[in-house]
Amino acid sequence: MPAIVVLGAQWGDEGKGKATDLLATTDPIDFVVRTSGGHNAGHTIVVNGEKYATHLLPSGILTPGATSVIAGGVVVSPEALFRELDGLIARGVEVADLKVSANAHVIASYHATIDKVTERFLGKNQIGTTGRGIGPAYADKINRVGVRIADLFDEKILTEKVEAALDVRNHLLTKVYNRRAIEVEVVVEELLSYAERLRPMVCDTSLLLNRALDAGQTVLFEGAQATMLDVDHGTYPFVTSSNPVAGGVCVGAGIGPTRIDRVVGVIKAYTTRVGSGPFPTELFDEDGVQLQQLGGEIGVSTGRTRRCGWYDAVVARYASRVNGLTEFFLTKLDILGAWDRIPVCVAYEIDGQRVEEMPMTQTEFHHAKPVYEYFDGWKSDISGCRSFDELPKNAQIYVQALEEISGARIWGVGVGPGREQTVVVHG
Ligand code: GDP
Ligand code: IMO
Ligand code: MG
Repeated sequence: MPAIVVLGAQWGDEGKGKATDLLATTDPIDFVVRTSGGHNAGHTIVVNGEKYATHLLPSGILTPGATSVIAGGVVVSPEALFRELDGLIARGVEVADLKVSANAHVIASYHATIDKVTERFLGKNQIGTTGRGIGPAYADKINRVGVRIADLFDEKILTEKVEAALDVRNHLLTKVYNRRAIEVEVVVEELLSYAERLRPMVCDTSLLLNRALDAGQTVLFEGAQATMLDVDHGTYPFVTSSNPVAGGVCVGAGIGPTRIDRVVGVIKAYTTRVGSGPFPTELFDEDGVQLQQLGGEIGVSTGRTRRCGWYDAVVARYASRVNGLTEFFLTKLDILGAWDRIPVCVAYEIDGQRVEEMPMTQTEFHHAKPVYEYFDGWKSDISGCRSFDELPKNAQIYVQALEEISGARIWGVGVGPGREQTVVVHG
């Protein structure tokens, strides 16, 4: 399978890191590519009991023989990039070859400053961003005042671009937010300090990936964030500032949609969300606390407690539709082993009406109340199961029921964080 997309089908943290690592190690993979977002992501990979977290780097950085690629749609903080790389090297990891797109936009420290003051000003309407400067960097890109990786190799151009970017931003910072202006020279000096280390990594990643696909090599596109956090298709404005959906992979990587063979939606057997915004199946009771605790639902990037709720098949069907999913990878089924009865949201009730599909407007989505169907639990530890037949009957029924109502077949099921803790449903 030459081009495989792995993406989040809910609000993030579905286990994309594990799914990517699994796919990258079961079949030989030549490239693992990030195409959107930045170091707002937090992907956990557990290899032989050792836990690794990646943020900006593709998980493929841990896969010997695969080349890691940060494509043009990503926003890159060089400081975060090297901090992450050095952190892995310090742990003795033999890091894979890394390529960075010349077109990727740069996150400088002022983007994080602006992210944080903007959130403070939003008060109770704040998005709950990761504070990493993702939104302001994409805003600069769309406003056509962004700095790209290629600009770091020409001091004159870099200075002009940073001046243009800071011109309006500094008015905003000093006159609206009552902050000190950011000095152009300081930013230029900061960015130039990364140029030499970056230089050998920088290339035309669209050309690289298209040539690889032409040669029949296998490319895995590792999604970050998720469908419901997509700036166009998510719960706007409570979203990130990029397009984590499958279409965003083509834009971010510079490949055509005809190249993609498989689109795997990673989805938890329940639902979590970090930050603000609507979440119809969110639990505010003991079950929510138990999901959070048993699932270890704490953010990898920001350490925030994740909001928890039951599986939402309306969200799953929506993710299947907007991404053209060929399959799901269902994670964390093992966590549900504690319940006698497991509710699954099959539809919403909105202002007295039963609604089967994602409502058209955000107002309706804010009013959506889950309609639940209930499944008998299996009340046992399934983390040692390695085949579908080994799963308790009620767990099999749960997986099959989700498959029927979620809009795509379930390729595999995660029964623990480890690579090997996986049950293949349809090989
Ligand atoms: P990502 O951002 O989508 O890569 O997901 P995160 O790494 O932020 O969060 C997923 C968490 O669930 C991580 O701690 C994983 O190690 C863990 N995980 C992934 N799959 C499974 C699974 O099937 N069972 C259990 N118990 N944990 C899992
Ligand atoms: P992975 O790849 C979960 C959320 C933030 C916030 C919103 C906007 O690990 O699944 P941003 O800093 O992107 O402007 O924040 O998006 N968010 C995530 N939530 N997992 C992520 O990444 C996320 N990346 C961003 O919490 O609500
Ligand atoms: Mg995560």
